[in-house]
Amino acid sequence: MAPNLRVSLVIGFCVLVLVVQPSPAYGSSRGSFSLAGASRSPEEIGICASSVTVWGYKCQEIEVRTKDGYILNMQRIPEGRVPSGGKKRQPVLVQHGVLVDGMTWLLNPPEQNLPMILADQGFDVWIANTRGTRFSRRHVSLDPIQPEFWNWSWDELVAYDLPAVFDYVYSQTGQKINYVGHSLGTLIALASFSEGLQVEKLKSAALLSPIAYLSYMNTALAVVAAKAFVGEITTLFGLAEFNPRGKPVSNFLKTLCTNPGVDCYDLLSSLTGKNCCLNASTVDLFLKNEPQSTSTKNLVHLAQIIRDRVIAKYNYGRPDYNLMHYGNIWPPVYNISNIPHDLPIFISYGGKDALSDVRDVQELLDRFKYHDGDKLSVQYIKDYAHADFIMGVNAKDIVYNQVVALFKRQH
Ligand SMILES: *[C@@H]1O[C@H](CO)[C@@H](O)[C@H](O)[C@H]1NC(C)=O
Ligand SMILES: *[C@@H]1O[C@H](CO)[C@@H](O)[C@H](O)[C@H]1NC(C)=O
Ligand SMILES: *[C@@H]1O[C@H](CO)[C@@H](O)[C@H](O)[C@H]1NC(C)=O
Repeated sequence: MAPNLRVSLVIGFCVLVLVVQPSPAYGSSRGSFSLAGASRSPEEIGICASSVTVWGYKCQEIEVRTKDGYILNMQRIPEGRVPSGGKKRQPVLVQHGVLVDGMTWLLNPPEQNLPMILADQGFDVWIANTRGTRFSRRHVSLDPIQPEFWNWSWDELVAYDLPAVFDYVYSQTGQKINYVGHSLGTLIALASFSEGLQVEKLKSAALLSPIAYLSYMNTALAVVAAKAFVGEITTLFGLAEFNPRGKPVSNFLKTLCTNPGVDCYDLLSSLTGKNCCLNASTVDLFLKNEPQSTSTKNLVHLAQIIRDRVIAKYNYGRPDYNLMHYGNIWPPVYNISNIPHDLPIFISYGGKDALSDVRDVQELLDRFKYHDGDKLSVQYIKDYAHADFIMGVNAKDIVYNQVVALFKRQH
């Protein structure tokens, strides 16, 4: 496949999932939240009040400022429903993927969602919300209507967002952190750890549905999505917000959806692969709350991984620009093999995952061939696709119990 076709694929995937829910109003009806008693939307009351305290957990809304001025929202669930005495609880930081926010972890009931399972298992749980998502849209001097607000890619999540949340959790708890990432939350962790960032504050890492190498990323939508090019995207949206619920993106999607062979009715599957184990009411709730905005530049940078088949910093597309930013005509590569070999890591991936293709995960695992044998555990789940890892009704039994076991082994 030609490189620019590949580049366009990821953009196509990213945008096409958005058609799933063209309705612009998030949270007008509350699904299971209303069952639990909250009638106002998460936008009004925040994630703690809409999704956590209603289940009987303590929850604290937190603001964290990045070195480049973004003000990020976090939630802290300090303990389970039955507090575990005076025991010191280990902190866990939970990092979501691209085009969603921290609420995505909390859509299933307490017995099925990872943050609450961790809290009930005695951990002190911190949920991150990446810049640009609905509760992390503030900056010390910029406004989301300004293009400069959106001048970042996942390099900046590595350089600023992760350090800000790690530093904050570390400063509040005085303890090293166990990390869980899903999707883009795995890429930014791998990139950070490979540069030696956060590793002194890190105890262990669980990487679910890892996004790293993307050479084989493929879905039923590929052929049609390939008609959109990065160049086109950048002129359409420029250095701008990529708002899945906004008019320009939605018009763009409508055009893509008129292509023969594109099934815009089952886009969650088309995008993520065929998820085995989602509850229809959870999917409903997901579509009411997600997708969330990201920057166009972030999607372009992801597309560059597909095109260039390396995990590198943002490519400015011109040798002179790269030279100016990096002192080299090529962007520097993140060398995954440099991740400390004694870092306890758990990687879980699915056989049906269209975004995290099995062959790409193999390439990632190749980079860990010198990792200490007893510090790396890998789980393959034949029937799982991308969303099963965050919303699967059986994810507790299959995946989360392993995550809990990993974290409990760390002292
Ligand atoms: C975007 O950020 C880069 C540095 O990452 C900077 O060189 C460039 O001037 C910025 N562009 C705008 C329009 O702010
Ligand atoms: C699906 O979700 C609904 C509403 O929360 C719940 O009543 C039902 O038991 C769930 N099904 C499974 C299999 O978890
Ligand atoms: C990446 O790091 C490993 C060792 O940590 C080294 O052997 C390898 O040559 C490096 N790769 C590149 C492309 O720099």
